[in-house]
Amino acid sequence: PLVTTEQMLLDARNGGYAVGAFNVENMEMVQAVLAAAEELNAPVIMQTTPSTVKYAGLDYYYANALAAAKNSRVPVAIHLDHGSSFELAMQALRVGYTSIMIDGSHSVFEENIAVTKRVVDACAPSRVSVEAELGKVGGKEDDLDGGNGGYTDPMEACEFAERTGVNSLAVAIGTAHGVYSGEPRLDLDRLSEIRKVVEIPLVLHGASGLSDEAVKESIKRGICKVNFATELRIAYSDGVKKVLAEAPETFDPKKYGAVGRENVKQLVMNRMKVCGCDGKA
Ligand code: 13P
Ligand code: ZN
Ligand code: NA
Repeated sequence: PLVTTEQMLLDARNGGYAVGAFNVENMEMVQAVLAAAEELNAPVIMQTTPSTVKYAGLDYYYANALAAAKNSRVPVAIHLDHGSSFELAMQALRVGYTSIMIDGSHSVFEENIAVTKRVVDACAPSRVSVEAELGKVGGKEDDLDGGNGGYTDPMEACEFAERTGVNSLAVAIGTAHGVYSGEPRLDLDRLSEIRKVVEIPLVLHGASGLSDEAVKESIKRGICKVNFATELRIAYSDGVKKVLAEAPETFDPKKYGAVGRENVKQLVMNRMKVCGCDGKA
């Protein structure tokens, strides 16, 4: 069934595991994520970023996720990842997304609180859950290594959670979106400090490229949702490239789509086991 992320993440927090959240770009990736979840009996979150939404529109991704969730044995949520404005968040809410991130992390503290609170209030009647972000998760160009600049401050996180009433909070502890050039250094003590003063489920972004140990240690210290995007794109594209390299005469999209899909399913199953959400549906 299609569900919100509220109970899913509270169960994860209470059970000491994390739900995997996987960015989907097309029908095959939606099918792959669902197949992995069903095979492992895991709750699952499918999510789309604004650039993905821009590519095809919310309706197409919602329809794909709904098709997957409708007859599923496992709980499935469809989540707006890095919602960039109040307006986009409201569009996702109207379309039927069951979980919404409003990413005000690029604004100053008070503005981040204000926009998050607005989204929380708007989502409350339909019980759609809301994720916010405080601090800056690195991008490909950012270099947060070694410095405190942009990392989530525990006391600010506490105040942010209380004043917004948000359901979950993404924290910046040294992870970055995309692949890492070196071994990422995570500020795990900071994560523990945040956990001490913030009760709501915490979210880890930028998990592609993290070692199994880093993901597991983050979960031990309070992470309840782990986001994977780049690894799925690579897995899908590697499958497609392999088919087209070995048989360049291929013209049926189903032929290479099936191989990309299987690659994504295997990756997602591996990542779900690292998150410990297998068997938790
Ligand atoms: P990666 O691309 O590093 O997996 O990051 C995913 C993410 O945080 C999506 O919001
Ligand atoms: Zn992210
Ligand atoms: Na990453």
